Amino acid sequence: MSAELQLVVRSGHPDFLDLPWAEPLEEWHSERLVRMARGISRHVVRFVAYDDRVYALKETEAGAAEREYRMLLALREERLPAVEPVGVARWRAPGGGPDRATLITRYLDYALPYHYLLARRGRPGLLDRLLDGGVVLMARLHLEGFYWGDFSLSNALFRRDAGAFIAYLVDAETGELRPSLSDAMRDNDVDVAVENIAGGLIDLQASGRIEEGLDPFALAASFRERYHGLWLELTREDEVPADEQWHIHRRMERLNELGFDVEEIALVRSADGERLRIRPTLVEEGHHARALESRTGLRVQENQARRLLNDIAAYGAWLEHVEGSPVPEAAAAYRWLREIYEPAIARVPEALRSRREPPELFHEMLRHRDALSEEVGHNPGNDVAMDSYVASVLPGLPEERLLRED
Ligand SMILES: Nc1ncnc2c1ncn2[C@@H]1O[C@H](COP(=O)(O)OP(=O)(O)OP(=O)(O)O)[C@@H](O)[C@H]1O
Ligand SMILES: [Mg+2]
Repeated sequence: MSAELQLVVRSGHPDFLDLPWAEPLEEWHSERLVRMARGISRHVVRFVAYDDRVYALKETEAGAAEREYRMLLALREERLPAVEPVGVARWRAPGGGPDRATLITRYLDYALPYHYLLARRGRPGLLDRLLDGGVVLMARLHLEGFYWGDFSLSNALFRRDAGAFIAYLVDAETGELRPSLSDAMRDNDVDVAVENIAGGLIDLQASGRIEEGLDPFALAASFRERYHGLWLELTREDEVPADEQWHIHRRMERLNELGFDVEEIALVRSADGERLRIRPTLVEEGHHARALESRTGLRVQENQARRLLNDIAAYGAWLEHVEGSPVPEAAAAYRWLREIYEPAIARVPEALRSRREPPELFHEMLRHRDALSEEVGHNPGNDVAMDSYVASVLPGLPEERLLRED
């Protein structure tokens, strides 16, 4: 039997035919190979670049590669944050040698492995923010019926989101997608996560990356508490007096604040008509992100969107004040985009743009502006704030769009 290569690649990507598929991934020599920062893994994972696009290749067994590919496709269909599946390559060696399969995913721009973030001995509370990102990811997956089975800090990537972090799923090998998950399965998934997190933290401590005084088990266990808190908030059934319907709006508002949208709310009135039971069904994350996108076309992450919407509201109020008449929300959003947001981003020199995503640059400029305002006693305006940020802060930040290995 002769050697055979079978490649399935989604449209819009290179065909990858110029890669040395006949060799095991570990032994490749190719101009396309690039070294990127990455988490710990059992499989060989390497990265290849085509122009400014980078792809991750993970060599595994045929069944596993295809399964993970399909799982990632399903997650993307549900609009869950996960790496983008691009294709699967299968190599059949001549004369019945071992078969190999490689999963190809798109490198997630601006995605940061946890150890990169921790290596910089980040700001206090960094670990908390990473775990919070993980908790939201896990709750979102569970709402859609996805059992992960292997959450760990290495199996997630983190993207900056207006000072917080949004977690992306990177390793779907052990995942299962069901119509819905039982409480037992969710608990089990969280148990696995807690164990993996504790293990990861112990390693970090051993290598001096996190403070000695920190208790890895307590911190890992806090993942469970945070998860339960969020899950309860998202799914709990409330019973309220029937004449106090404002509870319904409160609950909806609270869910929106958490970044979730309510698609349906089930109301059950008791037989005597005195009590009302409220249960939100189908909640989806991305409340502010969707609102911002519909008004401006900008696609950003949840906390960034919240920040930008606040800025739009402030701008709308200011317009109304100077123009003496109310400005419709849609008009204010459009004018904000043209007159505030785009000019601010345009002040960032091309060479520094890849250090942060545009909405994150805007968020950081706003923070910088607040700090300047405090210093000088008045608001210096966005132009001055951005120029000062570009001159004094941005050059000191590392390039994060494509994170090369140190
Ligand atoms: N598309 C991608 N974008 C960015 N980084 C990626 C991507 N795919 C993989 N990585 C990096 O490679 C690492 C290993 O990938 P992955 O977790 O899928 O391998 P694995 O061998 O299945 O891991 P495990 O040991 O948990 O089974 C990840 O932690 C991540 O840092
Ligand atoms: Mg992994």
